[in-house]
Amino acid sequence: MWMLFCLFLLSFQDHDKAPERAAPYYPTPQVVVEQMLKLGGLRRGEKLYDLGSGDGRIVMLGAAKFGAKAVGVELDHGLVQQSRASIAKLKLHPAAQIMEGDLFEQDYSDADLITVYLLPVTNIRLSPVLEKKLKKGARVVCHDFEFTEWKPEKTETIEDNEGRSHTLFLYRR
Ligand SMILES: C[S@@+](CC[C@H](N)C(=O)[O-])C[C@H]1O[C@@H](n2cnc3c(N)ncnc32)[C@H](O)[C@@H]1O
Repeated sequence: MWMLFCLFLLSFQDHDKAPERAAPYYPTPQVVVEQMLKLGGLRRGEKLYDLGSGDGRIVMLGAAKFGAKAVGVELDHGLVQQSRASIAKLKLHPAAQIMEGDLFEQDYSDADLITVYLLPVTNIRLSPVLEKKLKKGARVVCHDFEFTEWKPEKTETIEDNEGRSHTLFLYRR
């Protein structure tokens, strides 16, 4: 009985520590990726973070086309491996890199641009975290789901190749 109770307590502890899955994997269409980086004004040598980087497409375009130092943060081990393999194949390392871990636990103090395609409920948790961590002048571009507590500097709507509409929000600290 005691053993069961202890196991129950331990499972609770583990559960507390487990990173929250902040959104399912759903990739941004390539044409929208490019517009996110243009809207964010990404320049050569700037530091880009994609929070929840999926297959790494934002990070790879940021490094390859915009000349950024691009870092993706991804929780899903399979996606981390997939995106690292694509980066290696395109010889984009070290300009493009993927960190495996929880996007809520990283330091973004050197970010010039952050890209976000997560869920509304996640954005509510994330915006105060970024507000504390980001340097003055850093930009954030959100895909489809805004930061309701922040006022966007610019909002754009773009159609993908299948005629689906996407809204982008640009914020500046
Ligand atoms: C909607 S997808 C966006 C993928 C990519 N940013 C894009 O726009 O194509 C959200 C991604 O966030 C990742 N994710 C969810 N929770 C996370 C967390 N706590 N830390 C890091 N990544 C997370 C998911 O595995 C998924 O790949």
